Amino acid sequence: MDSTLEVLFAPAEFSALPRRDLSHTCCVVFDVLRATSTMMTALANGAAAIFPVREISQALRLRAAHPSALLAGERNGVRILSARSGGVDFDLGNSPREFTPERVAGREIIMTTTNGTRALEACRGAARVYPGAWLNLAALARRIRTEPLAPLLLVCAGTIEEASYEDAVAAGALCDLLWARFEEPSISDSAHIARRLYLDAKGGVERAMEEHSRNARRLLANPDLRDDFPFCLRHDALDLTAELRHGAVACQGY
Ligand code: MLT
Repeated sequence: MDSTLEVLFAPAEFSALPRRDLSHTCCVVFDVLRATSTMMTALANGAAAIFPVREISQALRLRAAHPSALLAGERNGVRILSARSGGVDFDLGNSPREFTPERVAGREIIMTTTNGTRALEACRGAARVYPGAWLNLAALARRIRTEPLAPLLLVCAGTIEEASYEDAVAAGALCDLLWARFEEPSISDSAHIARRLYLDAKGGVERAMEEHSRNARRLLANPDLRDDFPFCLRHDALDLTAELRHGAVACQGY
């Protein structure tokens, strides 16, 4: 099998994935600020599983079927409240700092965010789908290295309909960790671009993101959310991976 390494930067690209044969492909989805960082934090703090869905209406339907599950997610970066959902205040927003062991241990969480859950949903036809975060890059690289060589597709969730710098840099960092696994003709230009971005940012990732990431600036400008930025950039703080299977993101054993 041709073991390609490819990066998708923008939602227009991942929106086309349902028309691609991904049955042999491993996908890693990055929404560093903040959805995939929040998912990994929730799982590290004992959440049983996360059910990522694209729309608020899907989240509400799922919760009707699973009344004990927590509802989480954001629109415009803030927790979804009844005015937006048509009557239900979500239990949690999309700040990883809210997903404490006290709130989430042992719980199933239904989650909808603007881009992150949409990107995960687009990858559902893939052989394997992992949420990727700055928080667990080394663990992810280690897990992928133990698997048979397969096409690797890194999917950046982006912002609304645009590419986002922080996801591209994180995808580039994973490319760098796994670079030796791939042969040059199978490495796409997109992987070269992402890795180059990472290598340029490597000496000062936080500063580079403050300079070039609209999402970073958006979080930093909001007193309630500004601490999410350094929280999500704690490099390899979590020795943990999770996989999307049958609609649920969970660690092994769920
Ligand atoms: C998303 O999924 O679009 C993001 O995680 C947005 C956010 O920071 O809340």
